[in-house]
Amino acid sequence: MKAVIPAAGFGTRLRPLTYARPKPVLPVGNRPIICHAVQNLADAGIREIGIVVSPMTREAIQAAVLGLEGVCIEFIEQPEMLGLGHAVMVARDFVGESDFCVYLGDNLFEHGVLDFRRAFEEQQADAAVALVEVPDARAFGVAVVDGRGQITRLVEKPALPLSNLAVAGVYCFRASVFGILETLSPSARGEYEITDAIQRLIEQGGRVAGQRVRGWWKDTGRPLDLIEANRLVLEGLRPGVLGEVSGSRLTGRVVVEPGAVVRNSVIMGPVTIASGARIDNAYIGPFTSVGRGSVIENAEVEYSVIDEGAEIRDMSVRLQECLIGLHARVIGHGELPRVHRLVLSDTSLLEFGC
Ligand code: UTP
Repeated sequence: MKAVIPAAGFGTRLRPLTYARPKPVLPVGNRPIICHAVQNLADAGIREIGIVVSPMTREAIQAAVLGLEGVCIEFIEQPEMLGLGHAVMVARDFVGESDFCVYLGDNLFEHGVLDFRRAFEEQQADAAVALVEVPDARAFGVAVVDGRGQITRLVEKPALPLSNLAVAGVYCFRASVFGILETLSPSARGEYEITDAIQRLIEQGGRVAGQRVRGWWKDTGRPLDLIEANRLVLEGLRPGVLGEVSGSRLTGRVVVEPGAVVRNSVIMGPVTIASGARIDNAYIGPFTSVGRGSVIENAEVEYSVIDEGAEIRDMSVRLQECLIGLHARVIGHGELPRVHRLVLSDTSLLEFGC
């Protein structure tokens, strides 16, 4: 089985962070989201992976997955963002006659994709779709499932959902699905919908297995989703302190990578501090990732994602639920109100109390 990871989108809901970089390279647990996807595929024994990129996202995505071992990655260009159905269609030559798994480049699954591959292969289905129960399915593809777990109907973002089963971001297909994809017309929102192709497959008598997601699943569409995804990934953190720690208290699961320095600080895990980061006279609270080469000095931060080379200094208030982009700087100059919620894109500079 091969895999296709659509990663060509603009990530408009994650602006301003995605003005500078595509969503699948934003870090979760100090690792680009797309690297989690590639790892999950490799763990399920799927090693031939085609990543769909746009001319705008290609460079950043290539750099993010560079050096990943045990997989063979090809990049496939989608010249225009015409929807997921189209993103899969452009991978036709890469897939050839193989069965394949489509894994959305901005999705995270606690237990990876093996369950879906197994459902597809063991049930000899024409397709398998990951399903998850949600309280309100209107923003998703929605599936109706029969007593044997087969999907009997699939509708994209219905005004009145027919069930509470939303389609999560993993699908398995046979190569014959391309015959259907090429006959699709754009939907009302102007996109070629993968759900339309699956609905057509069902109408033609195809068997589509609906496989429930075990554990957590996260679609990182919006800023708070990214912070929440970071929390979920850090829940599984294996502690290890290999960096230089002095005059500090580390509690719970904490990773301090080699080359990171923690001085006169309190770190309450789960927290991961990447190599080259420096934490000085600071408090780093639960569910925080500190990227490579970042500096946090005379400041308190928790439940946040701090990207590489960022700087947070001299803050008299605690920062929480923050997304701080590459090389962004947050500098305090005196007394401030108590709580700030920040989404700062790469290279921003925010100064308080000047
Ligand atoms: P999304 O619709 O969630 O991502 O697509 P997006 O378009 O980047 O984000 P918004 O809606 O503008 O905020 C899910 C995945 O499919 C890819 C995206 O890159 C993302 O990884 N995708 C989407 C494509 O590769 N091509 C497309 O035409 C659409």
